[in-house]
Amino acid sequence: MRSIKDETNLNQKKVLLRLDLNVPLDNEKITDTTRIDKILPTINFLLKSEAKIIILSHVGRPKGRIVKELSLKPICEDLRNKLNENIRLVSKNIKEIKSTDLFNKHSEKIVILENLRFYEEEEKNDNGFAKHLASLADIYVNDAFSCSHRAHASIFEITKFIPSYAGLQLNSEIDALTKITSKIQRPITCIIGGSKISSKINIIKNLIAKFDNIIMVGGMANNILKYKEYEIGKSIQEINCDQIIKEIFSLSKKENCKIIYPEDVVVGKDLNGTAEIKELDNISKDELILDIGPKTIKAINLLIEESSTILWNGPAGYFENPNFAKGSVEIAKKIIEKNKNNTIYSVVGGGDTVSLLNSMGGISNFNFVSTAGGAFLEYLEGKKLPGIRALN
Ligand code: 3PG
Ligand code: MG
Repeated sequence: MRSIKDETNLNQKKVLLRLDLNVPLDNEKITDTTRIDKILPTINFLLKSEAKIIILSHVGRPKGRIVKELSLKPICEDLRNKLNENIRLVSKNIKEIKSTDLFNKHSEKIVILENLRFYEEEEKNDNGFAKHLASLADIYVNDAFSCSHRAHASIFEITKFIPSYAGLQLNSEIDALTKITSKIQRPITCIIGGSKISSKINIIKNLIAKFDNIIMVGGMANNILKYKEYEIGKSIQEINCDQIIKEIFSLSKKENCKIIYPEDVVVGKDLNGTAEIKELDNISKDELILDIGPKTIKAINLLIEESSTILWNGPAGYFENPNFAKGSVEIAKKIIEKNKNNTIYSVVGGGDTVSLLNSMGGISNFNFVSTAGGAFLEYLEGKKLPGIRALN
């Protein structure tokens, strides 16, 4: 894998820089800037090398349509302030942009193209779209480790058309994860939560052999409760998961990996609602499960207490509403306490989980913080990520 930091002649070279600026947004305001802050060294390195930078990113899942709320505008503004550079957001249809539209003013150093996922070609890994993007620059840099599990046009196909490099942040995430996975102390526990059930549920099977305990919370846990024939009301869930859940349970027996899921929950009538603790057999049809309950918190904290290594990806509930943040906050507090006593090695990944820890001021009490969620889990699975494969 060629790394951009070894490239000595970047002067006036046009660089397509694929970043993961998929930050959490609330009403077009950024609620956590970790993913932006982490890539500032890469941009500064390119600026110092006198390269011209074309930033590429997606935000959210607009599914090939222009969604105003998912514009890169607030991200462009944040970058402008942090870099103290005049950065132009090019809102023109990406498919119609020509290389002569960019950097026609000599002073222009950085431009940022609109959300790549406004175009369905991006997620389809479309060859023509990738070729067109490549035609805008001299070289391509992937500094989006957290997107490298997606075989999308700006991550995978593009590398066929243009000299391609790994970015600084991608290199350091891989270095850190390699180190972590090669010297793990047992017992090792993995906590998986969040709302992207379909991205994560299939990964769990492959993680079973590697962990002593797997704790499932958040959206995925709803599917387990449903499988166990509990009413889950209007909670988020994925269809057709029963077979995979059955396999998860049978494999975990064979591999001696404990699977933990909620024993009690906190429900609400809607996302902005108030919280009520419920036993599993007491959930109504008009309720949503939005957090884990106190018994579950206690059980999880006991397991954390017994663990020497912990990997955490995905919050336990809808923490954006403080009424449903307790589960995630208590898990965080327990890990932080053990980290302060030096009795645990803790790794955390994923945009939302990192944002939660930032809001608690707890991020420095983790041994390693990955910007990646899904990519982090797939890396742990031992998979060769498409974006990394494409650079090799
Ligand atoms: C992430 O937040 O994990 C990355 O930005 C990838 O987003 P995705 O899960 O929507 O592909
Ligand atoms: Mg995310």
